[in-house]
Amino acid sequence: MNILVTGGAGFIGGNFVYFQREKHPEDRVVCLDALTYAGNLSTLGSLLDDPMFRFVKGDIADRELVRALFAEEKFDIVVNFAAESHVDRSLENPELFLKSNILGTQVLMDACREFGVGRYHQVSTDEVYGDLPLDRPDLFFTEETPIHTSSPYSASKASADLLVLAYHRTFGLPVSITRCSNNYGPYHFPEKLIPLMITRALADEPLPVYGTGENVRDWLFVKDHCSAIDLVMRKGRVGEIYNVGGHNERTNLDVVKTVLAVLGKPESLITYVADRPGHDRRYAIDPTKIHNELGWLPETRFEEGIKSTVEWYLENREWWENILNGDYKNDYERLYNGGGRLGGTK
Ligand code: NAD
Ligand code: DAU
Repeated sequence: MNILVTGGAGFIGGNFVYFQREKHPEDRVVCLDALTYAGNLSTLGSLLDDPMFRFVKGDIADRELVRALFAEEKFDIVVNFAAESHVDRSLENPELFLKSNILGTQVLMDACREFGVGRYHQVSTDEVYGDLPLDRPDLFFTEETPIHTSSPYSASKASADLLVLAYHRTFGLPVSITRCSNNYGPYHFPEKLIPLMITRALADEPLPVYGTGENVRDWLFVKDHCSAIDLVMRKGRVGEIYNVGGHNERTNLDVVKTVLAVLGKPESLITYVADRPGHDRRYAIDPTKIHNELGWLPETRFEEGIKSTVEWYLENREWWENILNGDYKNDYERLYNGGGRLGGTK
């Protein structure tokens, strides 16, 4: 098979390309990625010399480029990871999120229709369901939970999901969607909670915890997300949504303290800063459907996953130091120091 992976130079897409090449060496993988600030060719490393892998730099919203690539490659499966993915950035520039996340999805699906692609898989997020209250641990997101978004990011992802379902119903496009909880693991861009805390703690810099730190996220090791997507895009029912998560809820404060304990750094580095506007309180996935229908279960316990993630950051300093020393440095100053998030502790 010939598989298009968009956004494969990013965190989850990169891990997914490695996963595909290892699990299905007979399948060819083409990666289309615009190499935005979040995309990094060094993530793909040795794959760039793999004859069963091809990298193409380009924007999924660029209709001509996408058409030409589909005409040339005749894909069997398209899996779309490409997106603007950071909630805080979506507060600063919503338009970019609408363009990549919604229009980009439409352009890809139009090409799938035109060139008769056998499966279009959309990588979505639990954020489309909004949030759950902190005092109702009995509540979980199921595939039937109504869409109820909080940020321009989650609104753009939900809009894309609705378009995907519409293309299935109206045009018969063979689609599937996965909605996953928070991922962590290697190649995670150091603006997101876990890698931000690891890299800042290593430099003995203050660790900015938004609000009270009581918000809850449901963490899944990235490889477990990859195995879920692989199953759904090959064996999942067409037109269906599958939630992906491993029942691993933690408060942000717990996560930061765990990272500090693994690194042997003091909790005095924790600094409470102004809260994220519209901050979702709790995410919690009910993964019963993907388990019952496809037998999927996560393999990595959080305690092991977080240790191996910290080790990866210790062993791959060059990967993240290059990011921290590049353009990202200015982004961080503008988004957080300039915007006051780090300026004033609470
Ligand atoms: P990321 O920001 O690390 O990577 C995104 C990649 O997409 C980058 O390589 C970037 O260059 C590329 N990209 C962005 N816009 C593009 C465009 N217009 N055309 C082509 N390439 C473009 O993101 P991630 O954390 O790996 O997330 C990947 C996908 O998974 C996203 O769709 C996200 O919504 C979803 N998701 C993420 C998580 C998570 O915890 N990170 C959880 C659930 C779902
Ligand atoms: O749930 C899936 C989503 O998880 C994905 O769809 C998104 O692409 C991904 O970025 C992630 O979204 P979050 O907003 O949950 O992730 P983030 O790492 O930005 O923040 C996790 C929690 O930590 C959140 O409650 C905000 C908090 N936080 C984050 C940062 C960056 C802090 O307290 N301090 C910080 O500096």
